[in-house]
Amino acid sequence: MIIKVCVGSSCHLKGSYDVVETFKSLLKKYNVEDKIELQASFCLGNCLQGVSVAVEDFGDAQVQESEQVKRTDQGLLLSYMNGQNTEKVFVDTILPLLK
Ligand code: FES
Repeated sequence: MIIKVCVGSSCHLKGSYDVVETFKSLLKKYNVEDKIELQASFCLGNCLQGVSVAVEDFGDAQVQESEQVKRTDQGLLLSYMNGQNTEKVFVDTILPLLK
């Protein structure tokens, strides 16, 4: 699985650095560094709802969509991410995709 955190200018200003750092620590905390690749991404075309994160390459797992979690052709687009909500989204939405 690949997690791409947008580091485009709008998301950068909204705190994508915090989101990247939080994901880094979560991959260690949940011992999934060998299963999830963390990448930085250019603008994901979702600037108004940033910080934006794309989740790709997780097969055809079912996902509960919400205002924050949308299905795309490539996988998932996560909106409104920040240092405070990243762990909840990671545990509720991303980790279950590994099973
Ligand atoms: S800058 Fe992040 S979605 Fe555009």
